Amino acid sequence: MDRFIIQGGKKLHGVVQTSGSKNASLPILVATLLTDEPCTIHRVPNLRDVRTTLKILEYLGKKVEYKNGTALISANGPLKNSLPYELVKQMRASFWVAGPLLARFKTAEIPLPGGCAIGVRPVDIHLKGFEKLGAQAVTANGNVVLSADKLQPAKIVLRFPSVGATQNLLMCACLIPGETVLENVAKEPEVDDVIAFLNKMGADITADAKGNLTVRGKSSLHGAEHSVVADRIESGSYMIAAAATRGDVVVNQCVPEHNSILLEDLQEAGVPLEISADSVHVLPYEGRVKPLRMRTAPYPGFATDLQAPWMTLMALCDGAAEIDEDIFENRFMHAPELVRMGADILTEKSIARINGVESLSGAHVMASDLRGGMALVIAGLAARGTTEIERVYHIDRGYEDLEQKLTALGADIRRYNPDKNEF
Ligand code: EPZ
Repeated sequence: MDRFIIQGGKKLHGVVQTSGSKNASLPILVATLLTDEPCTIHRVPNLRDVRTTLKILEYLGKKVEYKNGTALISANGPLKNSLPYELVKQMRASFWVAGPLLARFKTAEIPLPGGCAIGVRPVDIHLKGFEKLGAQAVTANGNVVLSADKLQPAKIVLRFPSVGATQNLLMCACLIPGETVLENVAKEPEVDDVIAFLNKMGADITADAKGNLTVRGKSSLHGAEHSVVADRIESGSYMIAAAATRGDVVVNQCVPEHNSILLEDLQEAGVPLEISADSVHVLPYEGRVKPLRMRTAPYPGFATDLQAPWMTLMALCDGAAEIDEDIFENRFMHAPELVRMGADILTEKSIARINGVESLSGAHVMASDLRGGMALVIAGLAARGTTEIERVYHIDRGYEDLEQKLTALGADIRRYNPDKNEF
């Protein structure tokens, strides 16, 4: 299994381009199941989760061509309406195929995704929504079997604005004639991007002033072409990495307003920024960042996916900082690893209390999830000495060309496979 070896203490400097969003690409690729016509999706990052999604589409019967960031998805005979556990266990977002398959076949059988390193992550909100749309959901032998004689439009109020449930229900409702209304939905930019793609496919989805969504279902959708929105979690991670190394970095091709809370917090912490329409310039500063109290929340709140990188920055603050992780119940796995690198962090339930230290020191650490892994990479870049990070396959799920992008910014980071003794 690959590891990263980082010689820390180098200030990042230069320009980095933002890739297309992983968390928008996955549901958009899944949405191509709603039509037999060809779809062309640009700016699809070459990541492990994307490759798993493409495998799922192939398994279900689609023809997939993926080259230079463009995915061409077309029909290749009849579609299947079930997935094996082998594919679902690789990636929870596999469950998102339930909505399109149910809409098209009135029946779908999908293994229940288990919990993962960051939390239990049930799918009850998805299932309740499908039931409102007229489906029966029966769980047996680890699978959810969804079936309906006839699907019907409905008013659905989500008990929590789940990103995945909003996307899954939207995709299903697009093919149910009549008017479905979804309330208390997720407002993440990735959801907006899925809506933009569905509308290009001929769907009719509108949002009112409160953000409630109305879907006027159609009997069929057609093929469409789309370019995926910038990955705000990737761009935010590079901004934090620049700040943690007191570097001088321009993060290009991003949508700064999708990172607005992070940008405010960085500035409040004393990191100077120059913000333009599609880039953020993180400038060097003297001394240490100021401590802040931060709480994760659904968009437009502070993104849970940036909580771990933010913890690395706060580990270096001048004072006492606090993080309240309100979205996932177990998303502090990086904290003890940061402590091994010299950070002073105490976690209790959803709260992390951080006493800033002047510097971190390189250590041998282990990534246990994607964003926690990125927090360790940033810590390694800022630390004195050598950091070795195990299980980088977690990080490979979400950061396209990470070593190349960081190397271009002056970092010393190498991928090493100890089994093959190969750099
Ligand atoms: C999406 O996951 C993202 N994944 C996650 O990105 C992200 O952390 C999360 O949204 C929150 O922003 C993808 O887009 C592929 P949720 P999702 O449903 O849709 C609870 C990353 O690092 N919940 O909004 O699974 C759930 O347990 C990742 O890129 C229920 O209780 O997130 C969690 O506590 C990881 N019942 C909270 O809601 C449900 O039916 C938010 O989950 C669904 C969710």
